[in-house]
Amino acid sequence: MADTAFLASVIAALPLPTLAIDRNERIIALNDSAVELLGSGAYGRHFVTVLRQPTLVDAVEQTLADGKARKAQYLGGDAAREQTFTVNLSRIAAADALLVSFQDVTSEAEAGQMRRDFVANVSHELRTPLTALMGFIETLSGPARDDAAARDRFLAIMAGEAGRMNRLVGDLLSLSRVEGEERVKPDTRVDLTAILRSTVRNLNPLAVDNDVTLVPEFGSDPLALLGDADQLQQVFTNLIENAIKYGGPDQKVIVTAETSLRDPALRGPGVRIIVTDHGPGIDAQHLPRLTERFYRADSHRSRALGGTGLGLAIVKHILNRHRGRLKIISEPGKGASFIVILPMDAGQKSEETPDPTP
Ligand SMILES: Nc1ncnc2c1ncn2[C@@H]1O[C@H](COP(=O)(O)OP(=O)(O)OP(=O)(O)O)[C@@H](O)[C@H]1O
Ligand SMILES: [Mg+2]
Repeated sequence: MADTAFLASVIAALPLPTLAIDRNERIIALNDSAVELLGSGAYGRHFVTVLRQPTLVDAVEQTLADGKARKAQYLGGDAAREQTFTVNLSRIAAADALLVSFQDVTSEAEAGQMRRDFVANVSHELRTPLTALMGFIETLSGPARDDAAARDRFLAIMAGEAGRMNRLVGDLLSLSRVEGEERVKPDTRVDLTAILRSTVRNLNPLAVDNDVTLVPEFGSDPLALLGDADQLQQVFTNLIENAIKYGGPDQKVIVTAETSLRDPALRGPGVRIIVTDHGPGIDAQHLPRLTERFYRADSHRSRALGGTGLGLAIVKHILNRHRGRLKIISEPGKGASFIVILPMDAGQKSEETPDPTP
């Protein structure tokens, strides 16, 4: 009996949900976190009625029988959040009991699932253009071999599909580089106005092609902050490109920048760069997921426009690195505003900042 009291006090001191089962297969001790996981009223009961899940029950029975240490899986949590546990079973000879402790491995399980999803997505995205390319190669080397008109048409489509694969691989590399650097705070002083100016200049031809008017409304005063000029340019390029692509023709895309000494999102000095379009907007259900890799609100349209669905994921990582934020405001039929919020140090000067475009 003294042994049981000692065992119970050791179990009570352990951080992981832990319980002990005796020879009679009853639960003779459990700590508060085990009560939280398994519910109250477990004390004194037969372990099968408490643990219930067959794989774990089997493992406990085997360890009770042969005394060998084992691991098993236990799925817990509620409707809001599923949890995965690795359960360690080991016999404590001195107390003639079996110790059962639950280790929460939910985040590892989720990371594994995300990795698998990512590989599946990448393969799927690459396979689509690849299948098209293979089909056209077959047609060109067979039935359409001597048809000059068809050959030109097919080659143009093939160039488009190869371009899509190339963009996808480029975006994947960019994403992995940006993710790798996320913890390295940028330390170069850059001028945001110059970056915005050159981004708008570079995208003007695309706007003209799409009958969109790009309206820069950010003034000409330098805006100095610590940043990575190339990455910031990548952020604004994607946002303005999206506004042009998804905003539709005969519309204006407006780019503004506003500084404030105390931005509510940063609780400090910051600048908000807002890219606004007047297109079809985005349904509220999509907004929280837009920065996920490969997430597209209108996947058919996005693909048709050559989008990889990685742009906003890259934006999010770059902004994380800059300790910034992205806010999206949109209503169907009323256009969309993408707001980039970047921290600024009060009193920074921008003299040293070169124009990012050569
Ligand atoms: N201004 C916008 N108006 C409407 N929908 C938008 C807008 N910006 C983004 N979206 C939606 O968000 C999705 C994700 O955008 P994101 O930039 O991540 O990918 P993409 O533009 O499809 O591909 P990429 O940027 O790699 O070329 C788009 O596919 C589109 O459905
Ligand atoms: Mg994009």
